[in-house]
Amino acid sequence: MAVAQPSGIRALLVGATGLVGGHCLGELLYDKEFSAVTVFVRRPLEWIPPKLTVHVVNFDHLENYIEAINVDVVLCCLGTTHSAAGSPEAFAKVDHIYVAELARLAASRGVSRFVLVSAVGADPASPVFYNRVKGRAEAAVSELPFKAVHLLRPSLLLGQRWEPRSAEDWGKQLAPFWSWFLWGPLSRYRPVEAETVAARMVELAKSDLEGIHIHYFNS
Ligand SMILES: NC(=O)c1ccc[n+]([C@@H]2O[C@H](COP(=O)([O-])OP(=O)(O)OC[C@H]3O[C@@H](n4cnc5c(N)ncnc54)[C@H](OP(=O)(O)O)[C@@H]3O)[C@@H](O)[C@H]2O)c1
Repeated sequence: MAVAQPSGIRALLVGATGLVGGHCLGELLYDKEFSAVTVFVRRPLEWIPPKLTVHVVNFDHLENYIEAINVDVVLCCLGTTHSAAGSPEAFAKVDHIYVAELARLAASRGVSRFVLVSAVGADPASPVFYNRVKGRAEAAVSELPFKAVHLLRPSLLLGQRWEPRSAEDWGKQLAPFWSWFLWGPLSRYRPVEAETVAARMVELAKSDLEGIHIHYFNS
């Protein structure tokens, strides 16, 4: 198994160009406990600081980049939407198949910890397709021999996006109103800042806690 080097933690971040992933990248680069940060992206980044290694990869052939998975921890913020992907199958390919393959390769390389952003309703047996896909991704990661798996289950993500997303934008407008009604067991459905999710991911990426852990955002 990979062990954190005395010189610092080595992290692989996937989904670094997204809302949560962008915040994660900033945190990982700023945090001195991380000595090296690698990202897998599908388009080049404009700015590459010294601590960062960028691999522009073909996500259909992640096995070609297995040598780059020479890290202690993987943080995965991959995801798409039905409308961006174009079909339910294309959505599932990103949110389940890519995540499962990344985790399989990481486990085969002896990576210790896998930190995944999932979603609040994730359940492989859910009648809701989105939740089922998220649940299957979680299950695929959880069955691998990592020392620690952290599954973060946010509700609606708040934060500034480059592109408009009509359903999400409506949800954000109404967030202060409907959050007010979400108490007790429903509090996990409150919207959460993407920045908060990213900060929790980076904290968990440093944690020695072992086992499979599910994290909600209900404060
Ligand atoms: N949006 C919400 O309210 C919400 C709520 C709960 C959970 N989640 C989940 O939280 C996670 C992070 O969400 P987010 O809003 O930060 O995501 P996001 O902004 O849409 O970013 C997604 C990341 O995945 C990458 N990606 C998308 N399609 C890809 C493809 N076909 N091949 C390779 N990479 C691809 C994107 O790369 P590019 O930049 O190249 O497109 C980007 O880096 C996702 O799994 C999402 O399902 C979201």
